[in-house]
Amino acid sequence: MKHAAGALLSSIRLDRTLKRSVSVQLYMALRDKILSGALRAGERLPATRTLAKEVGVSRTTVIDAIDRLVAEGMLVSRIGAGTYVSETLENQTLGAPPGPGDDTGFQQPRLSYVISHAQEAYARRAWLPHKPRAFVTALPALDAFPMAHWARLSARHLRGGRSDVMGYGQPKGLITLRRAIATHLSALKGIRCDPEQLFITSGAQHAFSLIGRLLLNPGDRVWMENPGASGARNALLSEGAELVPVEVDTQGMVVSDGLAKAPHFRLAFVTPSHQQPLGHVMSLPRRLELLQAAEQAQALIIEDDYDGEFYFGNAPRPALHSIDPNGRVLYVGTFSKSLFPSLRLGFVLVPERMVAAFDGMFNTWASGPSTATQAIVAEFMDEGHFATHIRLMRQLYKARYEALLEAARGLPESIRLQETTSGFHTPAFLDPRVEEAEVVAQAAEQGVTLAPLGRYCLSPIPQSGLVFGFGCAAPEDIARGMGILRDLPALR
Ligand SMILES: Cc1ncc(COP(=O)(O)O)c(C=O)c1O
Repeated sequence: MKHAAGALLSSIRLDRTLKRSVSVQLYMALRDKILSGALRAGERLPATRTLAKEVGVSRTTVIDAIDRLVAEGMLVSRIGAGTYVSETLENQTLGAPPGPGDDTGFQQPRLSYVISHAQEAYARRAWLPHKPRAFVTALPALDAFPMAHWARLSARHLRGGRSDVMGYGQPKGLITLRRAIATHLSALKGIRCDPEQLFITSGAQHAFSLIGRLLLNPGDRVWMENPGASGARNALLSEGAELVPVEVDTQGMVVSDGLAKAPHFRLAFVTPSHQQPLGHVMSLPRRLELLQAAEQAQALIIEDDYDGEFYFGNAPRPALHSIDPNGRVLYVGTFSKSLFPSLRLGFVLVPERMVAAFDGMFNTWASGPSTATQAIVAEFMDEGHFATHIRLMRQLYKARYEALLEAARGLPESIRLQETTSGFHTPAFLDPRVEEAEVVAQAAEQGVTLAPLGRYCLSPIPQSGLVFGFGCAAPEDIARGMGILRDLPALR
């Protein structure tokens, strides 16, 4: 019989202030000691009563932890003889886990060539905001979402046919949702499409990745608006793209700049209805120029229409997709702005000639979001709540924008807010002597979030600025945030 492990076990420390129960903490501590070899195969554990005293917990807590380890095969209980570390673990230990501050135990895993290369050019988006406050850019008005309708529809679906909401569903997305999106695109954007051309994805970001996976070879050149969407940039880099920063002016992407830098491009990424982050709408001549350039290069275009539902000026220009005679535009939409981002729901509308290739991808390995979520959103749209919500949000964002303009009146001359007619963010430009990063840091110290324009730039631009979101914060928060900026030393 081997010696008891009393001394070793007395080193176990449990923390009653943690959310995790002490029984689970004890289970994890014992498991770590077994896996690291600190408790050896065949070693006998002290009696549960002794262990309970040693560690300072009740005997029931110890029995709970030991029962779990017995069930997992790490410990073996022999009636009348005690509990032992399983003999089957002989020579199977994993070494001690590194302690705090000990980095010798970890070796970086070898990453793929594409990802190692991409990492050097990723836009830093350490976190995406999840708390609404002034002037967070990516969040819609969570406070105005019709949660009662949503809860009712969700409950109805979860009580409904189990196989409908719990099974795998159709690979390219539920037909009910694809039909509802096709109807919405026709009513709101004048886009005519067959639901078979629609593929449901886990947000726009997922759509960009899938498009890249399907179309790009490592090193293929992709035109990106500069400044431009940082998420799309990271997604396409991760698929091996060689990104080409293309200038943006008040008419949108400067196609001649793209042609000068990379005439043989494979893909172009644009946000024609509301340039991210500068807010311009792409002019018709530029749209035609881009379509022509793509035709000449036999390239394709990703049209990212992330917030095109929300306009409070003139009705939006027709989508690039609807003036494309040659099937070169992949139109990507998201519910992150029109409903809420945690849904992780978006879609891509592909040209007819690409349906088979996308079907091939979805039928073999790609998969989309939860079937239950898709079913709920489809019904939310069919019952008219979606159209109503968009109409109401258009008015709400207009009101919040007006609150932003009003509150911006007292800002120092070193910062100039740009006017906008759509979406729920707008940039402000800074006097050259003002440091973007300093403004962002000083504002953050006082609870105000600002996105530096530099974060959206693939290569530096002459202009410095900040992006203001006005969708998720109430007018009082907007006024309070502007009050803080008014007195910010970095802007003085
Ligand atoms: C330009 C752009 N496109 C799309 C999205 C939405 O991405 P997702 O649908 O993955 O949430 C965002 C989010 O902020 C964005 O800024």
